[in-house]
Amino acid sequence: MAPDRRTDWWRDAVIYQIYIRSFADGDGDGLGDIAGIRSKLPYLADLGVDAVWINPWYPSPMADAGYDVSDYRSVEPRFGTLEEAEALIAEAHQHGLRVLLDIVPNHTSDRHPWFADALAAGPGSRARDRYVFRPGRGPDGDEPPNSWQSVFGGPAWERVTEPDGSPGEWYLHLFAPEQPDVNWEHADVWSDFEETLRFWFDRGVDGFRIDVAHSLIKQEGLPDAEDLEWPRRPVEVDGALHRSPWQPHPFWDRDEVHEVYRAWRKIADSYDPPRVFVAEAWVDEPERLARYLRADELHTAFNFTYLQAIWEAGYLRHVISETLAEQGAVGAPATWVLSNHDVARHVSRFARERSEPGSSVMQLLDLPADLDLGRRRARAAVLLTLGLPGGAYVYQGEELGLPEVEDLPDDVLQDPTWERAGHTDRGRDGCRVPLPWSGSAPPYGFSPEGSTAAPWLPQPGDWAGLTAEAETGDPGSMLELYRAALRLRRETPALGDGELTWLELPEGVLGFTRDPGFACVVNVTGTHAALPEGYDILLTSDDLGTEGRLPAATSAWLKRN
Ligand code: NOJ
Repeated sequence: MAPDRRTDWWRDAVIYQIYIRSFADGDGDGLGDIAGIRSKLPYLADLGVDAVWINPWYPSPMADAGYDVSDYRSVEPRFGTLEEAEALIAEAHQHGLRVLLDIVPNHTSDRHPWFADALAAGPGSRARDRYVFRPGRGPDGDEPPNSWQSVFGGPAWERVTEPDGSPGEWYLHLFAPEQPDVNWEHADVWSDFEETLRFWFDRGVDGFRIDVAHSLIKQEGLPDAEDLEWPRRPVEVDGALHRSPWQPHPFWDRDEVHEVYRAWRKIADSYDPPRVFVAEAWVDEPERLARYLRADELHTAFNFTYLQAIWEAGYLRHVISETLAEQGAVGAPATWVLSNHDVARHVSRFARERSEPGSSVMQLLDLPADLDLGRRRARAAVLLTLGLPGGAYVYQGEELGLPEVEDLPDDVLQDPTWERAGHTDRGRDGCRVPLPWSGSAPPYGFSPEGSTAAPWLPQPGDWAGLTAEAETGDPGSMLELYRAALRLRRETPALGDGELTWLELPEGVLGFTRDPGFACVVNVTGTHAALPEGYDILLTSDDLGTEGRLPAATSAWLKRN
């Protein structure tokens, strides 16, 4: 039966991630906003993506760039108003773009009314039980309740002062102290998040990206975390991917978390057309990740094993095959992603020779960088990504070929990681620098002409050639490559959801065919690679070398002649 595009669009959608703070500033305060997004909808429609995912736009003290939400059913005034949000959703739909928002169910802001109630109500209260409060260890209770560490560095616990002024209980925060974890054993937590889903679904939102979808449930008794490896990135041993045996973790990927998503799926399915979910779950075990994608749970998940893969043909092929096998087994389409707002931009990752998978900026800084090579690989990688079966994500600015900004001065860094890790980890600001749209100097059209406020993070002085304006019409630009690939993806029946058949090609070269009549070949690291017989070229990531062969770090889309 032919797929129903109205309900199955998500099975092969290309979804553009809008990191709202850095996308486009409509009101001239140096911070991106809803007005900025509305002004760029024609750009996104022209780019050829199917949907947008917008990072949190809710009221927030911004301790973690909006992932500390103080009101889930409203809009941060610096980003705009609820009316503007509704207008954006309607206008996006008119442009043929679906809209996904970001829901943050693991923690609220410490300024959320619930947290104020919890502090005021004191130990043992129902209000406090909406979060994870525990007495401390040690004779005076002045040691954290267990050994858990925050993702941003330091203990995952903060001690509070009780209403009577005495040193009190501790609360859990897997991220910053301003992000207290909520307690998913509490009925209010269930009902409130369900109300939030409905609030936005009723306003026409097509789905949600679920923040740290794998962390909601904590092991009963909150036992100390042994020194468990997480995330568990596979390494290549003897031509196969290898992981140490899986063991349960006290807070990542607990089996009970699936009950939450089964309940959410019922809500999404009660809408017409049904709404959809994508899990942000850093679960590197393909079989464990696939559990989130069972028919009565979430629709898709980000593929972080692919994002973190090393630039090596065998490794990439294993990751792709594993993904397709495990997700196919539960009937879910794969998704493919190269970058997002939490990882070093892939042009800069690909500029390094790495033998270990990973994505953090700290893994890069000491390695020599060849940005031209990084760009060539990024061009080759996007044809691979968009040629694979399933859906794909594009992180704003990757279509311009932006690199990671690695030399932001220490005093402008805003990611809580920088302070929490005692200035040992520069964090994620380098991939969050405001986009360059036009012109030859900062703010490169990010803010309207005449604005006096500077962009919230400084843009490099050498981005004039990387603006959307400069790249438009330049056949060699990254932007025109993305536009061409996205257009062809829509026109080519073999692309999108489906299957692939691997081609057996020389060492360092990856290739597959898809029916009807499509082939993709990526020369990852090989010597000049011949193209398979019987095909014409649809698109190449770079000029072909001598005798029509693919140089290393080049890819091609082909169609059977
Ligand atoms: C994942 C988000 O992508 C990241 O930006 C945020 O810091 C954490 N979750 C905590 O919400």
